[in-house]
Order: sequence, then structure tokens, then C-alpha cells
Amino acid sequence: MSSDVVVAVDGTSGSGKSSTSRGVATRLGLRYLDTGAMFRALTWWMLEHGIDVHDSQAVAAHAGDPFIESGTDPHAPSIHVDGIDVAGPIRSEEVTAAVSPVSTVPAVRQRLLELQRAIIGTGGIVVEGRDIGSVVWPQAQVKIYMSADAEARAARRTAEHDHLVDVQATKDVLLMRDRIDSGRSTAPLTRADGAVHLDTTHYTLDEVIEMIVGLVQGESE
Ligand code: DC
Repeated sequence: MSSDVVVAVDGTSGSGKSSTSRGVATRLGLRYLDTGAMFRALTWWMLEHGIDVHDSQAVAAHAGDPFIESGTDPHAPSIHVDGIDVAGPIRSEEVTAAVSPVSTVPAVRQRLLELQRAIIGTGGIVVEGRDIGSVVWPQAQVKIYMSADAEARAARRTAEHDHLVDVQATKDVLLMRDRIDSGRSTAPLTRADGAVHLDTTHYTLDEVIEMIVGLVQGESE
């Protein structure tokens, strides 16, 4: 495996991208970047500042305002906005509901694209998102497109976050986010050219990590 390897992991919400990407990065001694956390951080800032997240002009006008820092240690990924640790707040229901509309705004995507490319830099990193293999880093040596049945994704999300949450409601939210993420005109969620499709419905986390580690190691042989 070359030390400048970039592994792009794209896919639908709840397909297991985060746990898988962190696991792969840990196994291979690579950095890890959660680009979804960056979109969530920007969304958190918009909500904090009373900006209407459905007003794309207002969102675009402020896309450059917050200072966003992403820590890339797979053991302890971090995210700060204007020096505030927002790792917890960006997972709130309010942010989750607002992040898809914010991420359709081209000025938001452009801003974060620049930050993402600066972090990916010379490589040695696993990057998860929706458009990494297609737009952010199409030259990635390994590209993965992860999916899973909506039922399985909703069940995993419910177990992860709060057992009291309704599985059907979680599934509806996931499907709505899929529609927005796949339907937007700028950098929609799509299987990038050359991406390996992994349907994780019937695999455990460890099995999926193993498959990707094998692909990364095989890439440089
Ligand atoms: O991976 P996640 O659920 O934390 O991502 C949150 C949202 O951010 C997701 O609904 C769409 C958006 N996103 C994006 O548009 N492009 C990315 N590369 C990553 C996330």
C-alpha cells in the first residue's frame, strides 16, 4: 500500500460509512475525514445564527463565515466551529433535519470542497461522504460505494442513537435524505466511475472493513 493512498467511501445515509471508514483507517494507519460532519458543522452554525436554512441565498451569503476545523485521527475524530467543539450538537435532530437542504447550496459545497481538498492534500487518508469519488477526489486509488437496504439502515441507526426512536420514522427520514442527496443538481450522491459497490445489508462491520482493507492492500500489489 502506498503511503499517499486516498480511499474514497461514498454512500447513502446509514449504510455504515462512518464506522467502516474509521475501522479501515485504524487498521491501515491512515487519517480519517468525515465530510458529513463538515456539512453538519456548517448547518449547526447557520441554525445558531438564525439563518433560514431553506433560504439558499442567505445560506450562500454566509457559507464562508464559520471557521471549521476537522481533526483526522480515526481514534478520536473531532470537529470545531469557530473554536467550539460541536461533535455532539451536530448530531442533533435539528441539524440532521436541516443538513440536506444546506448541502444542496453550491456555495456551501464549493467552500467545503476547498477545505476537504486541503486536508486530503498528500493523501494517506480514508474520506467518507457522498461525492468524494466523483467530485472531491476522483483520482482516489480506491473508491467504494456503500449501500444497504433501508430496513437494515433504519434498524442500525435506531440502535446507534436511541432505542426509543421509532424505526419506521427513522426509515422515512433516511429515505427523504437519500432523495435530497441523490436529487440535487450540484454533486449528487452517485456511484463514482470505478467505485466498487458494497451492499452491506448482510455483512457485519468487521466483514466490510476486511473487504475494504483487502482492496486497499491489493491496489498497490
Ligand atoms: O454522512 P452524514 O449523514 O453525516 O452527512 C450529513 C449530510 O451531509 C448528508 O445528508 C448530505 C451531506 N453531505 C454531502 O452532501 N456531501 C458529503 N460529501 C457529505 C455529506
